[in-house]
Amino acid sequence: MTGITRRVALMATAAAAVALSTVAFAQEGLPKLEKKDTYKVGFAQTESNNPWRIAQTESMKAEAEKLGYQLVYTDAAGSAAKQVADVNSMIAQGVDVIFLAPREEKPLIPAVMAAKKAGIPVILLDRNVDQSLAKAGEDYVTFIGSDFIDEGKRIAEWLVQNKPDGAKIIQLEGTTGSSPANDRKKGFDEALAGKAGFEILASQSGDFARDKGRQVAEALLQAHPDADVIYAHNDEMAMGAIAALEAAGKVPGKDVLVLSIDGGKEAVQAVVDGKIAAVVECNPRFGPKAFETLARYANGETIEAWVKNVDKFYDPTNAAAEVANAY
Ligand code: AHR
Repeated sequence: MTGITRRVALMATAAAAVALSTVAFAQEGLPKLEKKDTYKVGFAQTESNNPWRIAQTESMKAEAEKLGYQLVYTDAAGSAAKQVADVNSMIAQGVDVIFLAPREEKPLIPAVMAAKKAGIPVILLDRNVDQSLAKAGEDYVTFIGSDFIDEGKRIAEWLVQNKPDGAKIIQLEGTTGSSPANDRKKGFDEALAGKAGFEILASQSGDFARDKGRQVAEALLQAHPDADVIYAHNDEMAMGAIAALEAAGKVPGKDVLVLSIDGGKEAVQAVVDGKIAAVVECNPRFGPKAFETLARYANGETIEAWVKNVDKFYDPTNAAAEVANAY
């Protein structure tokens, strides 16, 4: 080895060592979680206005009870400001760790940072925060949840396969500024971009809520009577869209195909009944995975930045067989 090549090799080794220590430091900078027999755990929920949220809360409460942990539960009732206050209250109560389902990507950043400053690890559940403002392994431990971009993509791919001649689409978006609304739109829009005959006529928020979804669908169907597909970012808005279609004298599943995400029992049954064409599951049963991740972290394991949930897909080929297993 010449002097120059040796110097280059030494520099490369030094650079690799710096890169490794940066990764290690990123985890090192997080608040630690002591290994204990029991924990006081915070769970900051966004709202409780739909079966998905209720199933998620039940799963978290059941797992905490099974393990004998104390759960400090709050419901932000659809307000990001209240959710920030809820996290601050958990910090004041001295919880060991906080599970947070951030309602929107940006407004919950101060809550994540306040917990970090107070030395309390945060695990994000089901929704993520803005990745340019906070990062897993640095500001919070990890994000446990589904791939929302892939959910939107899968439903678009099903549509292209099953309606190959094209579609005129109304999109009902979830809560503005939330990660599932941003990503389910991105995945769907990108998968259809450039596909001949597929046109998104209108895309508007129904706030993940049934009645808002119904109202928005009603208005958009009036403005676009030629729409033949409604893609709703969750089951609640899909059920609202079905009500809007029926009120307008249209037959869901025949005049207009309804597509959804979540896969609750009511929606999977609607697939069996022919009112919903297809649903991508977004599983709300987080309890076991959430508390297993807590235990791994307390054991000193390095936690991956994203603990990914795997989602099923329901359409007329499997809905009848799956409906009993849906939440
Ligand atoms: O974050 C997951 C989404 O939030 C679910 O699709 C929806 O139903 C819930 O409110």
